[in-house]
Amino acid sequence: MIDHDVLIVGGGLAGSRAAVEIAQNYPKLSVGLISKVHPIRSHSVAAQGGMAAALGNLDSDDNWLSHAFDTVKGSDYLADQNAVEILTKSAPEVIIDLEHQGVLFSRFEDGHIAQRAFGGHSHRRVCYAADKTGHAILHELVSGLIRYGTKVYEEWYVMELIYEDQSRNEEVKGLVAYCLETGEVEVFRAKAVLFATGGYGRAFNTTSNDFASTGDGLCLTAIAGLPLQDMEFVQFHPTGLYPVGVLISEAVRGEGAYLINDLGDRFMGNYDLSKNKMELSPRDITSRNIAQEIREGRGINGGAFVHLDVRHLGKQKIMSRIPFAREEGMRMLGIDCVDAPLPVRPTVHYSMGGIPTNIDCQVINSDSIPISGFFAAGECACVSVHGANRLGANSLLECVVFGKRSGEKIGEYVSDRPMPKLNPEPYKTQAQAKLQSVLNQNGSTSIYTLRTQLQDLMTEHCGIYRDHESLTIGLGKLQILKKIYAQDLKLGDRSQIFNMELTAALELKSLITVGEIIMASALARKESRGAHSRSDYTDRDDQNFLKHSLGYIQNHQVQTSDRPVDMSLIKLDSDRFTPQERKY
Ligand code: FUM
Repeated sequence: MIDHDVLIVGGGLAGSRAAVEIAQNYPKLSVGLISKVHPIRSHSVAAQGGMAAALGNLDSDDNWLSHAFDTVKGSDYLADQNAVEILTKSAPEVIIDLEHQGVLFSRFEDGHIAQRAFGGHSHRRVCYAADKTGHAILHELVSGLIRYGTKVYEEWYVMELIYEDQSRNEEVKGLVAYCLETGEVEVFRAKAVLFATGGYGRAFNTTSNDFASTGDGLCLTAIAGLPLQDMEFVQFHPTGLYPVGVLISEAVRGEGAYLINDLGDRFMGNYDLSKNKMELSPRDITSRNIAQEIREGRGINGGAFVHLDVRHLGKQKIMSRIPFAREEGMRMLGIDCVDAPLPVRPTVHYSMGGIPTNIDCQVINSDSIPISGFFAAGECACVSVHGANRLGANSLLECVVFGKRSGEKIGEYVSDRPMPKLNPEPYKTQAQAKLQSVLNQNGSTSIYTLRTQLQDLMTEHCGIYRDHESLTIGLGKLQILKKIYAQDLKLGDRSQIFNMELTAALELKSLITVGEIIMASALARKESRGAHSRSDYTDRDDQNFLKHSLGYIQNHQVQTSDRPVDMSLIKLDSDRFTPQERKY
């Protein structure tokens, strides 16, 4: 058994920021960071457009309250306002702190950190490093891991969260993981575990997410019997490059790109009649509008995409502000956006839901009681600052603000705690048996075929628009996939050493589990709010559904319940943040 005071799972922005925070403030604590990829390959590195903070470098009247209001309105009023206050108030200081850690943000000529417009934000407040912002930030944070000597277990896959019920004093005590390189299973014990495991975009067939975004932390939490919150809210980013789905950053529209249909129209003006936001409407709205253009036959040449046109920006602006978008168009499709428009359509991008936590990043159970020793931050967590729809550039912000905060809170939490008592043997034996049982499967269905079937099913039955019939059929098909997974898998590689098929099999279990909770939660929410659009319940229904949903597994079935939304924006005595019709 390996002991650390703190175990962090995930080496992206939230996990690395937490590790750096602990190292800086609690240097005596031993921290182990476990990641199934090298930390620099975490999906955060692919984040492009920027990080929101009311610095006021361009729009001097900007302030945290305005950022908070935009975030709550963008969330369709489902965000917890106490968490939004922490997010938006902390934003300027975490940007400056990153800058001090060495992050090279783009700058205006006068030396101030540059800011740009983004969808749903009322001010130009997004700080950026061209369109490679995640890359710039993650490299500095991972340098921090090296600088502070954090012990990194890279290419280890976490198989189980050790959550023991000791006469109802339930406590997380560690993890079971296996080393991808050697197949060796190990039990890790800790006083606190932080999940910073990212999202699940690979549950769908078109996504901006990397191959590792398979919802593992969410699945482990659900299998431990804990709830997942607001899982029906799946964000479709409006501009995935067609057909591959990789991200063309919102920064491209922030810099002035047009969305054009087959008639040559800037069609957003047909939906946004005030012409206030146009291409910078929030993501849920823009994605629905693009889907409608395609559905009604106004995709380019009648196809499943529209055009994103930047030619009017000119080569110099394209090269300095959005060089990565240009590189992607050229590398993936051989299209240079300086001369020709890019084909785009909505792509699964982000999970608004996740592991429920309180504002101190402690994971909470269905009665809102913190689970001893268990914390979560970043995309896998639902604190909840995004509610039913996240504003662009609030995700990097959440990772850094709550990554840092989780580090502070974990440092305080573990300082005077003893190491939990734990017998590692049964966990190790069970995990070895589990791996062996997957390796022993002798059925006829390849893991990759089954994964494609799941991705197609999720996309068909739980896409931008959903309804009762389609979700019910989808859940029925998913039960069949679950049976095939349990009884009929075929593995071509039966070795223990770097067996990527074995890893894919474990990841597929995560995707199936998370997919089922997403669909069951979508079925239970009989209204349309933010990214959750029910064709059979088209209105928002605050009377019955202004509440968070919880989905959890009991006896192999998903059950759902709910919890209230926290409306208390501290120190605000006006009713400015009470739900209103969401108009832009
Ligand atoms: O479009 C983008 O660059 C993505 C930003 C985000 O998801 O926050």
